[in-house]
Amino acid sequence: MSWTKESLIAAAREAASKAYAPYSNFHVGAALGFADGSVVTGANVENASYGLTLCAETVAVGKALSEDWRGRLEAVAVVGGKAGALGAGDPVTPCGRCRQVLNELAALGESDPQVWCVGEAEVLELRLSDLLPQAFGPGALA
Ligand code: THU
Repeated sequence: MSWTKESLIAAAREAASKAYAPYSNFHVGAALGFADGSVVTGANVENASYGLTLCAETVAVGKALSEDWRGRLEAVAVVGGKAGALGAGDPVTPCGRCRQVLNELAALGESDPQVWCVGEAEVLELRLSDLLPQAFGPGALA
């Protein structure tokens, strides 16, 4: 693996700098680390029709799945915060929809990725299965 916990968090931070979030001013970056060493990032993309907003994690998963098959998802880093205060405050945990979207990607590679949620005082270290127990996934449709 060519990425580390620190580099994945740094990639999420860098991704957050590209957020399009003029309505909430809350910038989020996500970085997906795959077993083949590749990293795919995403940032939140808001819309004047607020409910159409795409979260950073969802953008990253969309990029990963639409560009190439990246194999086993090992880890996800998420960093967020108000513009100019990225990573300040409590760790940002993926929203419910993003947990489900991440679960699809994880299920494809049969992994239970680490999820590193970055906050000011701590990095919360979780597994996707902690965030989304009893998940509904592709296996249910097999
Ligand atoms: N947001 C994310 O990008 N990921 C999350 O997991 C939580 C929320 C974004 C959506 C919206 O643009 C902003 O944060 C405020 O909710």
